[in-house]
Amino acid sequence: MTRTHVPPVLVTGATGRVGRVVIDRLIDAGVPVRALTRRPEAAATLPANVEVVTGDLTVPESLDAALRSTGAVFLVWTAPPATAPAVVERLAAHARRVVFLSSPHQTPHPFFQQPNPMAALHADIERLIAATGLESTIIRPGMFASNTLSWWATAIRAGDVVRWPYGAAETAPIDDRDIAAVAARTLYQDGHAGGDYVLTGPEPLSQAAQVSIIGDVLRRRIRFEELTPDQFRSQTEGSWPRPAVDMLLAAWSATIGRPAFITSTVSDILGSAPRSFRQWVADHATAFMEGPTPSS
Ligand SMILES: NC(=O)c1ccc[n+]([C@@H]2O[C@H](COP(=O)([O-])OP(=O)(O)OC[C@H]3O[C@@H](n4cnc5c(N)ncnc54)[C@H](OP(=O)(O)O)[C@@H]3O)[C@@H](O)[C@H]2O)c1
Repeated sequence: MTRTHVPPVLVTGATGRVGRVVIDRLIDAGVPVRALTRRPEAAATLPANVEVVTGDLTVPESLDAALRSTGAVFLVWTAPPATAPAVVERLAAHARRVVFLSSPHQTPHPFFQQPNPMAALHADIERLIAATGLESTIIRPGMFASNTLSWWATAIRAGDVVRWPYGAAETAPIDDRDIAAVAARTLYQDGHAGGDYVLTGPEPLSQAAQVSIIGDVLRRRIRFEELTPDQFRSQTEGSWPRPAVDMLLAAWSATIGRPAFITSTVSDILGSAPRSFRQWVADHATAFMEGPTPSS
């Protein structure tokens, strides 16, 4: 019996939080993977049976080799916007379908309806993709559970208090592994062309409750100390981009008194419930303990 040749899936953002796990899920499903990175040395962190190609989203012509003979592309955009039109055009010239990691900017919940330059860029890229006629699936996760590592791990490693604004603001943190599992499924399974999927974690949790869960898992009492927005601006001055700070403050402020937005999409697509925030913390507990400071 002759085996049909399966074209590789090109995974961009391959060394990042979501892309790295998308690679694992594609390999589990027997799908050939080509991984894009700007850093050839990153190959050492990727599975041996992955074809690693170098390329940069800010240099569209650097993607030609990566795109040759691909069937589908997982697109993660963390670069500046300027080259998005040229990249999407190249993508359409080579691939049949694209799965794009976007955000829930169309969801009518105040948390997702605040001014947000990243959401505006996502909307632009979606328009570019639609204009090419490529088969597409848009994945729209809410707040990643892993954000809490870059936000709070340093404070939790150093002491017993997290100083942060809007402790009462609720989100439904989603485990990166669930986002990646959905993305991988839509890359190798038929029936997801035109899919537009808003993904959330399973439960609404205030930011103070998230800190308290981290404390429970670590068997420590960690206090949440409320900051005013101005105190938070001062605390992040020089280390966070101001537009990101203002975007988060606006989103948290707008959601006070509103339950977090929850969807059943992860279960609907995977047939299993999304992981809880407590589970995510348990699986990453060492990152909140002593040792070198985590980068994300
Ligand atoms: N955090 C959230 O709560 C949240 C929520 C919704 C949506 N999102 C979206 O999710 C996306 C980020 O996903 P992620 O967290 O998995 O990404 P990530 O961990 O930040 O990783 C992004 C990867 O992209 C690669 N990269 C960066 N600049 C590049 C360039 N110019 N050309 C090619 N590759 C480049 C880097 O790999 P190399 O260094 O190996 O090249 C990096 O590992 C963003 O679009 C964000 O807006 C995030």
